[in-house]
Amino acid sequence: MNPLKRTGPIENPFESASHLKKVDLKKLKVPSPVIYQNWESENASDYILMRDGSEISLTQLAHGNFHKVYTMPEQPDRLIKAPIGSINDNDKKGAFLESARAYKKLEDHPDLRPCQIFNDFLTDGYYEVEYVKESFDLKDLESLAPIRHIIAEMVVDPDQYFIHDFFPRNVRKGEEGEVVVIDLADRDYKIGGVEEEEKNLNLEDLAEDISKFILKWSDGDKESLERFMNEIKNRNQGQELLEKVSKRISEEI
Ligand SMILES: Nc1ncnc2c1ncn2[C@@H]1O[C@H](COP(=O)(O)OP(=O)(O)O)[C@@H](O)[C@H]1O
Ligand SMILES: [Mg+2]
Repeated sequence: MNPLKRTGPIENPFESASHLKKVDLKKLKVPSPVIYQNWESENASDYILMRDGSEISLTQLAHGNFHKVYTMPEQPDRLIKAPIGSINDNDKKGAFLESARAYKKLEDHPDLRPCQIFNDFLTDGYYEVEYVKESFDLKDLESLAPIRHIIAEMVVDPDQYFIHDFFPRNVRKGEEGEVVVIDLADRDYKIGGVEEEEKNLNLEDLAEDISKFILKWSDGDKESLERFMNEIKNRNQGQELLEKVSKRISEEI
């Protein structure tokens, strides 16, 4: 198979998570992808990925807390996302489980979708993902309507709709204008350990996270902030959480 021409997205890229018993996962070693500087290039952000014995050109695009992200000049609609070198095996597995859980939750969400994934992380040690180029424009308040709706749903029914790290940096706009989550996280699984953490969401933590989302998405714009709060208030539901969110936001501004 031509390693550049991989097939379409995996239907459930985290399926292996549900098949792995905890004990198996403990034994499992995540492969480290072979990615090295492209010395033939003058550009310091050019790398080579070894895949199936072939060299794939990469250019570093971004550096998150956990991953480095690369474009593939020969496959411009996809990205390679690999854990940064200092991340240990347990942390990788913890993050994998978190992503699996988040993916499952987001897959059924009526108002957004998770970013598409084309390979198995546990086999390759990196993700090959869809490159979602467009971001939401925080200054264009009309375009934020779906975001306001999604955050209002979190307040009304957090058990079903709360999304960890729903910050602008982790969310993009797909080709049909749909909301796409590009960084899958669900902190019910503890990063750093492979054990499942039984941690219920409590109202104070939820209020703190949701008010941070609102403040980031409204980006210091008073009208935007009001629109977010009105969207939630108009639901007339989730009262206790709404009060906590409102209180935190009024303390912040
Ligand atoms: N699917 C994607 N499409 C477009 N940009 C992406 C995608 N995935 C990651 N990025 C870029 O790379 C950055 C870091 O990736 P992210 O998945 O958030 O890593 P981390 O887990 O380290 O936070 C993102 O903030 C974004 O700029
Ligand atoms: Mg991120």
